[in-house]
This record gives sequence, C-alpha cells and structure tokens, in this order.
Amino acid sequence: MNTRIPSIKEIKNIKGKKIILRLDFNVPLNNGKISETMRIDRALPTIEYLVKKKARVIIISHIGKDASSSLKPVVNYLNRKIKVGFVPDFRKENARKVVDRLPEGGVVVFENLRLDERETSNDSVFAKYLASFGDIYINDAFAVSHRAHASTVGITKYLPSYIGFLIEDELKNLSLALSPKHPFLFILGGAKFETKMPLLKKFMKSADHIFIGGVLANDFFRDRGFVTGKSFVDTYDFKLTPLLKKGKIILPKDVIVTNATHKKGIVKEIGALTSEDSIVDIGPETIKLLALILKKVKLILWNGPLGYYEGGFDKGTIELLNAITKTKATSLIGGGDTAVIVEKLKIKNKISFISTGGGATLDYLVDGKLVGIEAVKKCAKRK
Ligand code: 3PG
Repeated sequence: MNTRIPSIKEIKNIKGKKIILRLDFNVPLNNGKISETMRIDRALPTIEYLVKKKARVIIISHIGKDASSSLKPVVNYLNRKIKVGFVPDFRKENARKVVDRLPEGGVVVFENLRLDERETSNDSVFAKYLASFGDIYINDAFAVSHRAHASTVGITKYLPSYIGFLIEDELKNLSLALSPKHPFLFILGGAKFETKMPLLKKFMKSADHIFIGGVLANDFFRDRGFVTGKSFVDTYDFKLTPLLKKGKIILPKDVIVTNATHKKGIVKEIGALTSEDSIVDIGPETIKLLALILKKVKLILWNGPLGYYEGGFDKGTIELLNAITKTKATSLIGGGDTAVIVEKLKIKNKISFISTGGGATLDYLVDGKLVGIEAVKKCAKRK
C-alpha cells in the first residue's frame, strides 16, 4: 500500500520550533567558487517558508564526497539572499549554544556533514546526535535521498519527519515519466552503461521511441560490429544488440568525428569510420531526424549529453534542447550534465522540469522510490 508522504505544509504550530532541514548543497566548486547554483536556488522556497513561519532553522548538508570541501561558499551565496549563520564544527559544544540562541525566523547552516564519517555509515548514535538539535526533521534533499545516511534515513527514527517543497516538486514532475503520456520519447546519453542499463530496460517497456547518444551509442556501434576507432567506449558484461529487436531504439545515423587531420570535427556516416576516428557528437542528419520525432511526441524524458560536451562538442545537445523548447511536449530533464547545459543556454523557463538529482533521479525513475523518502513515510506510519 502506498502511504502518503507527510508534507511541510502539514506541520502545525511551526512558530519557534527547531527544524532540522536536510538540503543537498552538493554544488560544483571551481577554485572555491560555486559554478552552478541550481540546487541552492531550488531549496530557497522551503527555507523562506520556514523563516516566514518563524521557525528556527538548522540546515544540514554534505558537499563533495568526503570531508575535504566546506559549505562556506554556499553560506556566502545564501547570505546574499537571506541572512544565515554558520557553525564550522557541529561536533563542538558551541554548535548547541548557537542553536539554542537562534531567534524565531533565524537560520544556521552546519558545516559539511561528511566531516563525520558516521554520516555515510548511517550510524545511529550520530543520527540521534543530529536529531538532538531539533524538534522536527524535514528532508528536502532530493539529490541525496537515494543514500541511506544518518541525515537522510537514520534521523527519521528520532524526529517527526516531513518532506519539503523541492522534493514535492521532484516527485510530482518525475512521476509523469512513470505513467507517461504517449507518444513518449526517452533520450539517453552520457556514459557508463552499467549504471544506465536499468533505466534503459525500464523505459523499453513504456517509451515509444528511445534515442541513444553519447558514449552509450558508441557501445551499441561496437556491439553491432562497426568500427568505433578511438572513440570512448564502456566496459560491461551484457549484449546490447538484442535490445534493438523491439524497434524502439534509435541510434545516430551520422556522427561528428575528430582525427589527426580534423581536430575540430567532420561529419561521417556510421560505417565509414576508420581506426583513427573518435566520435564526439551526433551529426546533422541525426538532429534532423530527431527534430521530426520531437514534433509528434507528448512527453520527453532526457538524461545525459549526446556528445563529448566537456571537450566543446555540445552542438548536438544544444540544437536538440533548442528544438525541445519549440515543442508543446512536456519535457523532463534528468539532472546532472544536461541540466548544467540547460542552465548555460538560459532556456530553463522553456523546459517543463529539470531535476536537481543525479544518481537519485536515475534511481527514482527506475524504482519509483528512494530510501530517504521512504524513511519519512515510515516515520508517518509509526506515529
Ligand atoms: C549527488 O550529487 O548526486 C548527491 O549530492 C549525492 O552525492 P554522493 O554521490 O557523493 O553521495
């Protein structure tokens, strides 16, 4: 049975309550500067709501894989929008003093949760310690809700738990891909077939068309016996060619390749590559073909760039994104690199939804649930 997920809007008598707000401020840093702020910006409505309701807000988040990064740049960015304090070490006595002195409507951010190794091991003592700072827990960290950590799962055992506006928005929009309108086009790019295979298998059932680009397309070409030259390819232990039997999968007809003579790229048909070529993007005929399909579909779900965009080969991805903005279809972009490109193009207002998640979005699309959100549901059942 599907239990309802308690929402932030249901919290009663919020004024003066200490709220532990789990956010995902894991934003990319470049020389200590934030290069992409989407995750912070999208968390603002929840923070602002709690401030307006005069709650006392304790924000917890991780940044980076381990303890080596600091949330200080995030705190500086937030301070341009809303006044927030900072606790550089939440394990010290001073943290409790700061929280106890927090006025109604006040906000404080604790330093990177991964300072303490017990965060990622979902240690119950650590979860209880985090919980001890608050009266209520809100998870609004969609992008890390696929991780069973102390701050996402463990903590829900000790406090009444809710989800925030960002997670509500993610669930509302991503669930459109779980019971899709038809015709439904699924675009899958990027690399690492190992991690994308569950997604492909899932949408083989419900999508009408599946376009494969990026390194994943090179893998198909190699499996089919085409020369892929020096192109990036993945290692995995399954066969891809049988997937083509259903007739749903569309592979690039032509590609842009680079080689010693053509460093900026030249168009080639698949089948015309030599051992010196490297596939870096989809070609113009493929873009034309996709533009025709786009005109007919009602739902588009896209995950992963179509070319080697880090190396500057982003034309295919950009042209397709621009074409999507001209359709009436609902368009869902599944986080990560594709979301960064949308941000750069300044077209986000013309895309129906951009997920803040990377791995979490993939897991949600495959399973229809995430451990961190299930934990909030379970907490509701216990009440
Ligand atoms: C992400 O960026 O996908 C999330 O913040 C999770 O980060 P992690 O993969 O380091 O757990």
